[in-house]
Amino acid sequence: MTRLIAPSLLAADFTCLQKDVEMVNASEADWFHMDIMDGVFVPNISFGIPVVQAVKRIAAKPLDVHLMIVEPEKYLHKFRDAGADILTVHIEACRHLHRTIQEIKELGMKAGVTLNPHTPAESLKEIISFVDMVLVMSVNPGFGGQKFIPTSYEKIRKTRSMIEESGSRALIEVDGGVDLSNAAALFEAGVDILVTGTTVFKAEDPAGMIHQLKTAGLGKITVNSEK
Ligand code: DX5
Ligand code: ZN
Repeated sequence: MTRLIAPSLLAADFTCLQKDVEMVNASEADWFHMDIMDGVFVPNISFGIPVVQAVKRIAAKPLDVHLMIVEPEKYLHKFRDAGADILTVHIEACRHLHRTIQEIKELGMKAGVTLNPHTPAESLKEIISFVDMVLVMSVNPGFGGQKFIPTSYEKIRKTRSMIEESGSRALIEVDGGVDLSNAAALFEAGVDILVTGTTVFKAEDPAGMIHQLKTAGLGKITVNSEK
């Protein structure tokens, strides 16, 4: 099972972004997660293409760009040119999701699809074999620092079975309210990539926190009945 960590720059210190990017570069994290919000699809506005471009210049790891915008199909090439390696669109924002996924791949990026908390895993049925990643939102998108929604576990398990049944090789990412209280259980439920904003960037030792998240549950003592 894959165990990747993607710190979300939404919780970084924007007055010292380079410092936070370098911390992630030097840490055991795997990707940079970048949240793009338009104030229409979600009730908040974050940052846009120039920030992705700037981070790309100093990032030593792939950029995992999460588009929380309406009509994402209009901007795919712009995010590719800015440096996105993985581009994820919301199922709720795409009228022609299959076409949008194909376009992301034709542009040379990995294609992700994401589901809001109210969207059932079953809605992935016809798209799952075309995507590289499914992002399960475990909070309503728009803000960092929200509380994890526990029904996400069931959705992750269902998504995992759908991936196995369809023969898809998609990875599962979870985003929102991830911390040390749920990281191990999320990996166990079938998650490959944890997105973590607040937990990493507000920690006293962010790189240490990344290590703890990545290894969550691995040190568990298991009882060996054979002795
Ligand atoms: C929420 C974003 C998340 C956010 C997660 O809309 O998609 O990526 O940064 O933040 P935390 O980890 O603080 O819940
Ligand atoms: Zn996100």
